[in-house]
Amino acid sequence: MSTAASTSRTGSLVIAVDGTSGSGKSSTSRGVAERLGLRYLDTGAMFRAMTWWLLREGIDVRDEAAVAAAAGRPTIESGTDPLAPTIVVDGTDVSVAIRSDEVNAAVSPVSAVPEVRGRLLDLQREAIGEGGIVVEGRDIGSVVWPQAEVKVYLSADPDARAQRRTAEQGGTDVASTQQSLLERDRIDSGRATAPLTMAEGAVHVDSTHLTLAEVIDRIVALATGAERA
Ligand code: DC
Repeated sequence: MSTAASTSRTGSLVIAVDGTSGSGKSSTSRGVAERLGLRYLDTGAMFRAMTWWLLREGIDVRDEAAVAAAAGRPTIESGTDPLAPTIVVDGTDVSVAIRSDEVNAAVSPVSAVPEVRGRLLDLQREAIGEGGIVVEGRDIGSVVWPQAEVKVYLSADPDARAQRRTAEQGGTDVASTQQSLLERDRIDSGRATAPLTMAEGAVHVDSTHLTLAEVIDRIVALATGAERA
């Protein structure tokens, strides 16, 4: 077992896990947080929650001005227990609702709106606070917390990502899942504000041929090294 959890600086450690859609960021980040006794923040869930709320309010998610004007309105609260993360919007737990096809299709354009990013950036930095947390997203190591002690860029081949994501959702249509993942990657990497990119100082982990346990082990080893440094 790692001894990192008992070393003195683990309490303030921040591990940033960025990467493409479906590369295994969530399972990996939760596993690392559990192993090291850290909190866990899923920033993608925050963008999804904002998107869910806009759709519920009947706001046209393709109308950038309307999205920008509304971005400050919902309250969004993230529960950071890696064993039971939660996401609550205006008092409603939307943990399941934010994984719908409707949200999948709208979340990348919503995430490209600077006012949405600015609002969620404040909430993300507030949640990170004093640290002791694994944070997953697209711009954590580059924008949200560039001073993170450990930065990981997680990737996997599109085929592997689509197969894993389809299996997770209990579906069978790998081709359409792959199309949806690649479309999100295209928008997330191409947007002007805080695009998906490999942050300076990030370690690239390609999970295509690794098991989840192997990916977790690698990041725990990096974190343990950062603790000693
Ligand atoms: O990780 P995810 O698939 O749940 O993220 C959903 C979307 O949220 C993703 O397509 C882009 C956006 N996102 C972002 O722009 N910045 C982040 N830090 C996290 C997610």
